[in-house]
Amino acid sequence: MEKEKFTSRFGAIMATASGAVGLGNIWKFPYMLGQNGGGAFLLVYIVCVICFGLPLMITEFVMGKSSGQSVRGAYQTLAGNNRWNFVPILTCLTVMFITGFYLVITGWCVKYFWISIVDGAWLQSMGGNIVCSLVAALISMGVLWMGVNKGIERLSKIFMPILLVLLVVLIVCVLLLDGAGKGLSFLFAFDASKITSRTVLNALGQCFYSLSIGMGALITFGSYIPKKQNVASTAAEIVGIDTLVAIMAGCAIFPAVFAFGISPEQGPQLVFSVLPAIFGQMPGGQIVSVLFYFLLCIAAITSAVSLLEVLVASLMDLTEKRPRPISRHKGLIYAGAACLLISVLCTLSLSADNKWLILGGKTLFDWVDIITSNFLLPIIALGTVVFFGWFVDKKVMHEEMAPYYGKQKWTMNVYYFLIRWCFPGLILLIALNSIGLL
Ligand code: PHE
Repeated sequence: MEKEKFTSRFGAIMATASGAVGLGNIWKFPYMLGQNGGGAFLLVYIVCVICFGLPLMITEFVMGKSSGQSVRGAYQTLAGNNRWNFVPILTCLTVMFITGFYLVITGWCVKYFWISIVDGAWLQSMGGNIVCSLVAALISMGVLWMGVNKGIERLSKIFMPILLVLLVVLIVCVLLLDGAGKGLSFLFAFDASKITSRTVLNALGQCFYSLSIGMGALITFGSYIPKKQNVASTAAEIVGIDTLVAIMAGCAIFPAVFAFGISPEQGPQLVFSVLPAIFGQMPGGQIVSVLFYFLLCIAAITSAVSLLEVLVASLMDLTEKRPRPISRHKGLIYAGAACLLISVLCTLSLSADNKWLILGGKTLFDWVDIITSNFLLPIIALGTVVFFGWFVDKKVMHEEMAPYYGKQKWTMNVYYFLIRWCFPGLILLIALNSIGLL
């Protein structure tokens, strides 16, 4: 059967950008920035995105586009043998756990959105949290059920622009508050003394997460990019949108935080407990809070969609040549059920009553996060750069890029210098930083 491709350049950009724009931009970026020195972190982050994020996004796109396959097929086709299969297998396992974890937080977004409209005290219970994750999972599965064009592409073409408009509306509301200016100066004032090696490594890790690098999503979406589309400019636009949304989220959050005299260093609860308190005291706070949590839900659900698609596409590719290939719908049910199970277990582990889900003082929820982001993701990212830099014929990249760069061969030399010599070391440093060894 002929594989689905995105119908247009715009569709491809919207679909991939809405997968990349997610909790990483609106939940994680603001609190990371708050904890890592404001404007200094922003500048380091932008440098990381350009020097590190963009070339890696292009790499994953090329892997998907040139092979026309999702993660597992891409490695096999490009390697010409089975020796690298451990990377895609690890990727799928990791993505399954990350999706379970992501659905828990997406569930919180749904919960706060719900609470901002009606007062539902029961939603705060364990059952309420599980129902909210279930709602998030079912919506994501509904989108995937309709396929790449009618589901993912169509939905993102509607939701991505809505998300941008909502963000602008929110920024305007928040900037009208007294004392909002202090928030903006925190975000944009650059103080070089705040840059430490920790800031740089945190910014690098955040750049990975926010651009969806190293999780197979970009390889999978790359395989849907039409043959004639330039992957480098596509990636540049997606990186631009992703970074813009992160900065806009900062502009919507910090002015409110400063206007109410709260310290910006709140950590992960910034969006889920500090903001509701602020909205409660703000004039027109209820409308602002409905808008904000709706925006967060859109961002999170479209990213959950892109994560689940990695699993669905892999199941379909893997069984493509078998007598009874797995259809999109069947694959979706298997993948969705596995991720939902993980997500329910993670939520249950957050209650002290469920001691069987708590190990060494940490909950299953914490463990999934620690193991995936500190160990599995760096191994996969390292596998990807070493594989593409050293083991894939340079012709693959040349053929993809030649029509666009003309005679500017130096870009290719810079690219190979980065991917062969710099990136493996940098990924190791990020990993050591997140384990706490640096
Ligand atoms: N980039 C997404 C975010 O910012 C997370 C994500 C990672 C989504 C990998 C899909 C694949 O939240």
